[in-house]
Amino acid sequence: MPAIDPEIVSARPQVTARIMARTGLDEAKLTELVHRFYGKVRADSALGPIFAERISDWGPHLDRMVAFWSSVALMTGRYHGAPVPAHVGLPVDWDHFDRWLTLFRETATETCPPEGAAHVIERAERIARSLHMAVEDAKPRTIPSLL
Ligand code: HEM
Repeated sequence: MPAIDPEIVSARPQVTARIMARTGLDEAKLTELVHRFYGKVRADSALGPIFAERISDWGPHLDRMVAFWSSVALMTGRYHGAPVPAHVGLPVDWDHFDRWLTLFRETATETCPPEGAAHVIERAERIARSLHMAVEDAKPRTIPSLL
């Protein structure tokens, strides 16, 4: 068994070490990815205003998002939160998620080695689809026949 780097902060250090070796990802790469990605999101005409209205202090949000990606991509268990309630009620449809994914794919390709980019993109696509479903399910329905 390879020696585990004592710098790895993870609930499952061996699993995390194996993923890091296979994908070329680590906390530093994910931090760069998250910071660059939200830089693009904030400058985007469709997504920027939605975030600007809800986030005034970006430091804690970026820290939370790095912890989220550390948990999702490296299985460190660093994120303890609830993504679904944070998105239910946002004024978004699939076009917004599609734009989010376009920017995410672009940034992942710029910042990560190819295996690492594929690893995070696959997970982002899956989570975006499930968040989209949760957002759609929570939208109030009108029943045309009763109007
Ligand atoms: C239409 C696209 C999206 C929009 C407009 C959006 C917007 C937001 C906003 C405004 C927040 C902050 C909520 C708050 O603190 O009040 C947030 C939080 C968050 N978002 Fe998104 N988001 C989108 C897609 C995604 C996707 C695809 C993912 C995951 C792959 C994601 C993961 C998260 C996470 C983990 C949080 C933190 C939740 C928490 O722990 O409080 N978001 N998002």
